[in-house]
Amino acid sequence: MRKVKVELGSNSYEVYIGSGLLAQTGRWLRESGFSGKLVIITDPTVNRLYGEALKQSLTKEDFSVVTLQVPEGEEQKSLETAGRLYHELTSSNAERTTPILALGGGVIGDLTGFVAATYLRGVPLVQIPTTLLAQVDSSIGGKVAVDHGQLKNMVGVFYQPRLVIADTDTLRTLPTEELANGLAEVIKSAAIRDNKFFAFIEKNTDKIKALDEKVLEEIVFQSAKIKAEVVEKDERDLGLRNILNYGHTIGHAIESASDFKTEHGGAVAIGMLAAAKISNKMGILDKNELVRLNNVIEKAGLPTEMPNLNVEKIMQTMKHDKKVLRDKIRFVLLKSIGSAFITDEVSPSLVERVLGGDEET
Ligand SMILES: NC(=O)c1ccc[n+]([C@@H]2O[C@H](COP(=O)([O-])OP(=O)(O)OC[C@H]3O[C@@H](n4cnc5c(N)ncnc54)[C@H](O)[C@@H]3O)[C@@H](O)[C@H]2O)c1
Repeated sequence: MRKVKVELGSNSYEVYIGSGLLAQTGRWLRESGFSGKLVIITDPTVNRLYGEALKQSLTKEDFSVVTLQVPEGEEQKSLETAGRLYHELTSSNAERTTPILALGGGVIGDLTGFVAATYLRGVPLVQIPTTLLAQVDSSIGGKVAVDHGQLKNMVGVFYQPRLVIADTDTLRTLPTEELANGLAEVIKSAAIRDNKFFAFIEKNTDKIKALDEKVLEEIVFQSAKIKAEVVEKDERDLGLRNILNYGHTIGHAIESASDFKTEHGGAVAIGMLAAAKISNKMGILDKNELVRLNNVIEKAGLPTEMPNLNVEKIMQTMKHDKKVLRDKIRFVLLKSIGSAFITDEVSPSLVERVLGGDEET
């Protein structure tokens, strides 16, 4: 097992990463000082696959376990579902000291985190992420939220978990597209912060796709370490943490302009490449680095070509995105693989040219 410490003063916690961790969860929670009742919030698929194993590990340590289920899908990240969960928590006599365990992907993690942060003004939260995206990204850093109206993550708070347990065995049952969504975030982490890790991904893409145990542990560990380090420097997302949005400014606009027919991972991959092309055209990023990024994305099975979408629509969506500051679109660009910076000095016409395919790699 590998451990990453997230140093946030009195809100510090550890991320445990490795194989076979679900079975040890009861012991760790006992050692963390918890006893009595625990609530697991999960979805039906994850509950069917991992609910029983987690429950066994907890009951073995004499915890009494209540499991609450939420249907799958982003639409469950809502105030309505949160309201239903508050009701069920009250009916289960969950108290101020009752820990809530988020067992699932980013949807369960964000929703459960929001509920844990607000129920009785905050109860202990433990994240048990089961998608690659949740293990490398959403379970770490304390951003918890629900969507509201058309706006994603509109209502939320910063609320750090007490512990994150990322059992890499759970990744074996992930559908291919969910693995790809996580891989895009793994590539992003390396691209913005760690050239050595990027080289590891370049060398081991086949092993990643074959779910090699040691390689999976390594990519989750390295990505979690990068996320932790960035969050430690900017917990409240006022500066540096923005670099985690690399590929997401254009990516979100592509998702939205395609009516969410383009998967998140694919959209982020295309967004990363577009941002790298912009960096190259501005004379900041060497062509060889752009080619490396293109190749690793391709090898990972993620798209490298812009889908056939209306460029004007993508530009409009970006302008409405929350990453726009005083009418300027905020971009994360690359200086080299492993080094990113934030700027709002990108000319819209260059973005349009890159999105329109006029600027080839
Ligand atoms: N809080 C943050 O910092 C942060 C960062 C990035 C993304 N997010 C949020 O994360 C969400 C997306 O999360 P996601 O990509 O994990 O998707 P998800 O939570 O919707 O999970 C995807 C699907 O995978 C299934 N699943 C989960 N684990 C599985 C497993 N081990 N085996 C088989 N199936 C499994 C789930 O049932 C679900 O159907 C979005 O709402 C996004 O806003 C939050």
